[in-house]
Amino acid sequence: MTKVLIITGTDTGVGKTICTAALATRYAGSALRADGVGGAGSAVRAGGGSVAVVKPAQTGVTADEPGDLDDVRRLTGLTDLHEGVRLRDPLAPTTAARREGVPLPTVAAHAKFIDDLAITRETVLLEGAGGLLVGLDEDGHGLAELAAALNTPFAFVVVTRSGLGTLNHTGLTVEALRARSLPIDGLIIGSWPAEPDLAEQCNLDDLPVTTGVPVIGRIPAGAGQLDQAAFTAAAPGWFA
Ligand SMILES: Nc1ncnc2c1ncn2[C@@H]1O[C@H](COP(=O)(O)OP(=O)(O)OP(=O)(O)O)[C@@H](O)[C@H]1O
Ligand SMILES: [Mg+2]
Repeated sequence: MTKVLIITGTDTGVGKTICTAALATRYAGSALRADGVGGAGSAVRAGGGSVAVVKPAQTGVTADEPGDLDDVRRLTGLTDLHEGVRLRDPLAPTTAARREGVPLPTVAAHAKFIDDLAITRETVLLEGAGGLLVGLDEDGHGLAELAAALNTPFAFVVVTRSGLGTLNHTGLTVEALRARSLPIDGLIIGSWPAEPDLAEQCNLDDLPVTTGVPVIGRIPAGAGQLDQAAFTAAAPGWFA
């Protein structure tokens, strides 16, 4: 049984964070209600599964600005949220850290932190920074190396765009995961429009055929603007 679900994407800005929030709602099940059951800092645990979310590197925000985990909190009420390192410049973590002159934790350190969390949570969701090959530490190791360093069972999901170009980008990401023998649970379309164009309609059929990976979810466009009650009520329905 998967304990760590790793949310990567074909690019930055594809909807990984909203997808992570939707998955948190799905895995927490009845444990996660719109009133944010669980209490500050605690795992949500009241009949559904306990879920923690980890963002090992958050870039593009100052100390007092909201990061991706604040979006997860706003959309889900979940409070078991863990940010690794925070960097000011809206750049890849290694680049932002170099410019700021701060050291980065190793991916082994991130993996240890996640393994420890997974001891007491049923599911840990891990949101990467940007796409799969973005470096997370000074050795150039990224999400793939972090995954390989985990002792806890894990699988990836790949968040993809809906439109023209996604067959190539999704294929490249899937190929990179397979080349490293990393398991993939499925693809999730990060923003699915109310009125899909021809390419989008065709991609829905072609993505599983060309990648060999099923589309397991579609997040409706505009989902990020929902309030917490509407988001948590609707999110489980976005997955196959
Ligand atoms: N389904 C959606 N509905 C509404 N807005 C969305 C949706 N998906 C993504 N967005 C918006 O698109 C932008 C990028 O999405 P998001 O922050 O989730 O990307 P990301 O893949 O997590 O990027 P990063 O690499 O920075 O973590 C955000 O402003 C987000 O609000
Ligand atoms: Mg994000």
